[in-house]
Amino acid sequence: MAETTPDLRGLPKHRAYVELEANIEAVLAGVRDEIAEMATVSALIHHGFGHLWTGFYRVAEPGKRLLVGPYQGTLGCLEITFGGGVCGTAAAEARSVVVPDVDAFPGHITCDARARSEIVVPVTGPAGALIAVLDIDSEEAGTFDDEDREALERIVQRFARR
Ligand code: SME
Repeated sequence: MAETTPDLRGLPKHRAYVELEANIEAVLAGVRDEIAEMATVSALIHHGFGHLWTGFYRVAEPGKRLLVGPYQGTLGCLEITFGGGVCGTAAAEARSVVVPDVDAFPGHITCDARARSEIVVPVTGPAGALIAVLDIDSEEAGTFDDEDREALERIVQRFARR
C-alpha cells in the first residue's frame, strides 16, 4: 500500500470530497472491519481538512450510551448519553446535526475549548440500526454546511454495506 494522506485544504469543497471519497474507497478496498474502517476514515478526513477533532462515538448501549471509538485529535470525552450534546442529539434522533456555533447549541459538550463549530452524522449498520455517530469539530465557526452533511452521509453508508 502506497497511499498517503492527501491535503484537501485549498480545494473547493465539492472537489475535496470527490478526492476524499475516492481515497477512502482506494485505501479501504476489500476491508470489511468496522474499527479499521472507522480509524482510516477518521485519519483521512482529519488530516485532509485539518480539523480539530474527527472521530466516531460507537453505540455501547442502544438508546442509552455512546462510547468513544477511533478518532484523531486531542483527548475526546469517553462517554456521551443519548440526547446529550450534539453527538447524543444526533444519536437519539438518528439525524445529522450541523452546528455553526457551538455556543448557541444548548448542552454542547466541550471536550476541547477551541471547538467553534461541528457536524455529527449518524452511522447505520447492515441491520439498519444505529451503530455509531461520526463527529467532526472545527476551530472555525460555520465550517460545515449541507455539502459536508451530504458527503459525510455518503461516506458512512459503507458501514451499512456488508
Ligand atoms: N462535541 C461533542 C462532544 C464530543 S467532542 O467534542 C470530541 C458534542 O457536544 O456532542
